[in-house]
Parts: sequence; structure tokens; C-alpha cells
Amino acid sequence: MKKHKLFILCGLLTSFNIHATDNQQLVNETRGAIKALGTELKATLQSAMKSEGPSKAISVCNVQAPKLAQKVSDEKGMEVARTSLKTRNPLNAPDPWELSVLEQFEHRKAEGEALKTMEYSEIVQHNGNRVFRYMKAIPTDDVCLTCHGKQIPEKLSAQLEKLYPDDQATGFSKGDIRGAFTVVKILE
Ligand code: HEC
Repeated sequence: MKKHKLFILCGLLTSFNIHATDNQQLVNETRGAIKALGTELKATLQSAMKSEGPSKAISVCNVQAPKLAQKVSDEKGMEVARTSLKTRNPLNAPDPWELSVLEQFEHRKAEGEALKTMEYSEIVQHNGNRVFRYMKAIPTDDVCLTCHGKQIPEKLSAQLEKLYPDDQATGFSKGDIRGAFTVVKILE
């Protein structure tokens, strides 16, 4: 179980007061880090799909993505991960706070908001610590459909099924919310 998941579970047992984010600088810094991560991930994926094909590119999404997220986490002193309402890897399942934000994103999308800039942040109070939480929507693009779309090639589908017997992350269309980047930073 990821560290912040445990942390949030503990948070449910104690009081959990929520305040609106008042730290614009923190938001800007996080936004920058996530934008760089998102761009790097997509570029790495696109070139792997082209040069090695989807079977090999699987490792970009399951090995490289967590590695890149870890790199940003270490550099920025924050914990960065990916989550979704429909996960491929159950380890990426949302905690209650993430679940409510993912649902909020779906609602905002239904109201016509663009996904490109869709984000949400809050400073939550936990055990006397102020904790910054941030999420940014990840749109489904053409390059994602080979592995997350409605018609996954047979060989790839078999490979995915073996690795992820509980895979829920299929059936997406271009423009859907595939998931979100999620950030936790303990402030003090
Ligand atoms: C080559 C196959 C492949 C492609 C293409 C691909 N993914 Fe994935 N994706 C995966 C695999 C495998 C996982 C599981 C990763 C893990 O084990 O953490 C995954 C997981 C994810 C997750 C984490 C949540 C979850 O479902 O576990 C997100 C978010 C995600 N992918 C988004 C995308 C987006 C956005 C694109 C397109 C830009 C994309 N993926 C393209 C294979 C792929």
C-alpha cells in the first residue's frame, strides 16, 4: 500500500478538517512539476509505441511511469502518483479524497469544462499537520486507445490480462478522463 494511502486511512480515524488552498505558489510549483511529468510520459510512450510497438510499450506505462513519478517526487519533496475511477493496476485505486475529486472532474467535464486545464487542490488538516493535496485530470488521447480503448489487439489484450487480472481500464474513448495525477505534500 502506498504511503499516502495508509496516511489517509489513518486520517479517516481522526478529524479531517478541510480548508481552501491559500498557497498559490505551491499550486504553481506543483502544476509545473506535473506538466513536465505529463509531457515526458506521453513523449516516452509515443516514441516507444512507434519504435517498439505496444507489447514493449507496456513497460512505459507500468515501469517508466512510476519511475518518472518517483523522480519528480524526490526532486520536489512531494508524493506523486496516478489514479483513476477505472484502474488497470489496483495499487493505483483512489483513496476517498481522490475518489471525490475524480467524481468532481467527471461532473465538471459534463458541464463542458476543458480537460487540459482541469485541476483541484486543497490544504487538509491532519494530526496537526497541514497537508497539500492536488489532482490534475489526464485526458485520453489517440495514443492511449491501443491499450485503454474499446478494441485492444488480441495479443496485447492477452498480455494485459496476464499482468492485470482485475483490469478495469479499457473501453475509453478519445476525450474521456482516463484518470488523474495526484500529489500529496506534508507542509508542517
Ligand atoms: C502500451 C500500452 C499502454 C498505452 C499505450 C497506455 N497505457 Fe496507460 N497503462 C498501461 C498499463 C500497463 C498500466 C498499468 C500501470 C501500472 O501497473 O501502474 C497503465 C496505467 C495507466 C494509468 C494509471 C491508473 C491505472 O489505470 O492503473 C493511467 C492514468 C494511464 N495508464 C493513462 C494513460 C494515458 C493517458 C495514455 C495515453 C497518453 C496511456 N495510459 C497509454 C498501458 C498503456
